[in-house]
Amino acid sequence: MAQTTDFPVRVPLVTKPMGILASLAAARRNVLSIIPDIATRQPMVSGKTGKRWHMVMDPEALRRILLENVANYPKSLVTKNLLEPAIGKSLFIAEGAHWRWQRRATAPVFSHRNVRALSPLVTDAAGRCSARIAAAGPRAVNMFDEMVATTFDVISDVTFSDDKGFDRDAVHNAINAYVAEAGKVSLMDILGAPNWVPRLNRMITGPSLRQMKQIADQVIDARRNGAEKSPPDLLDLLLAGEDPKTSRKMQTAELRDNLLTFIVAGHETTALSLSWALYLIAHDKRVQDKARAEVATAVKGVDVTGDDIPKLPFVRQIIDESLRLYPPAAIVSRTAMASDVLCGRDVRKGDTIIIPIYALHRSHVLWDRPDGFWPERFDDMKSVPRYSYLPFGDGPRICIGASFAIQEAVIILASLLKQFRFSPVAGRDPVPEMTLTLRPEGGVWLMADPLKG
Ligand code: HEM
Repeated sequence: MAQTTDFPVRVPLVTKPMGILASLAAARRNVLSIIPDIATRQPMVSGKTGKRWHMVMDPEALRRILLENVANYPKSLVTKNLLEPAIGKSLFIAEGAHWRWQRRATAPVFSHRNVRALSPLVTDAAGRCSARIAAAGPRAVNMFDEMVATTFDVISDVTFSDDKGFDRDAVHNAINAYVAEAGKVSLMDILGAPNWVPRLNRMITGPSLRQMKQIADQVIDARRNGAEKSPPDLLDLLLAGEDPKTSRKMQTAELRDNLLTFIVAGHETTALSLSWALYLIAHDKRVQDKARAEVATAVKGVDVTGDDIPKLPFVRQIIDESLRLYPPAAIVSRTAMASDVLCGRDVRKGDTIIIPIYALHRSHVLWDRPDGFWPERFDDMKSVPRYSYLPFGDGPRICIGASFAIQEAVIILASLLKQFRFSPVAGRDPVPEMTLTLRPEGGVWLMADPLKG
């Protein structure tokens, strides 16, 4: 394992109790900084900051929240209020029967076959990314910006890029503006700040969001009457999708909300896992060389393709380890519908349940050398206890796009390893900062030196 005192970068977690104002101020800066240090050593930490809340880090209790008693723990009101203006009552935020039929109708979209059929589009986007970096010549590159551009390329190619009237930049700008706004406020809610939610709705239902929805609606209507792409893309698959139980199909607004959900939920998260992975391998020459050797042996062609993925287990482990150290969704929250008992402690109706995935993944109880970068810990996935590792959540609400994201991350990381050697730029380490997602503040600045041959 690479050993320097400040690698890999982490967030100093609080070591003494904070009052409500101090925690609100801290949370506004970086929500991770409100997680107490003891959350990496204890199964559960409870408190009251306006509302009663519990941070849960115990795998058994997490299993109860996310699986066994899942109906008692719907997504928190805040999560819903934050996301609803952009993505309506789509899969991500619907509950009960309305969630269930949408999950049944969309599950086949992400079948192994469909996901693999879309991999050539990822290979192409990875090629364009390498070409951009190479064309810029020898200089420091902000790989975070590069990864955001590349994963947006992918998600728009697998949704509606070929369609006329699709204004890529307009959609991208609208999403970025929205995520930036929504990110700022979500932090206060997690702490149980009073109900400021209606104000929030007005704030983030701006013109850019309306424009984004209009564009999506036009594309969907045009596609309904036009030809399917070959292979079918996510929009074709969604259009074809129906609930096998009720034969219900999605209307235009439902299709649009789910399509935008895939874009919002899938693009920055994947860019983040890649950016953090690049930061980590740039600082750890052993890991980088080992991964590059694996790519050289496994990939016979010029480009890395979907078929190469099974031969790239170490590249996959780097992604797994990056998702452990820097989970893009570092905190998820729920609201208890009725009283329950978790870790022998009373949970009351209305209590906020916080799952600090960041702290869970750095637990001293669950992980060996929790703050170290050591991809080989994922050599045997079966040895990683269930509900200790939750980058994609778990239970019925587990991320529907997980295999798509992993495929994309492995292809892009392997493609970059094949073309460049990465090294850090002194004094420009990123700072992990959590708004809606866990971002590398300051960017991930690396030297990317082209490899010969
Ligand atoms: C590395 C990339 C990704 C990460 C870390 C990630 C993480 C997560 C997490 C933690 C959840 C569960 C949230 C909760 O329980 O509160 C989730 C749900 C979801 N994700 Fe992802 N995600 C990623 C990529 C994607 C992609 C590529 C897509 C779609 C193309 C996607 C679509 C969704 C959807 C629709 C849900 C809601 C599923 C449901 O509630 O039934 N995600 N994701």
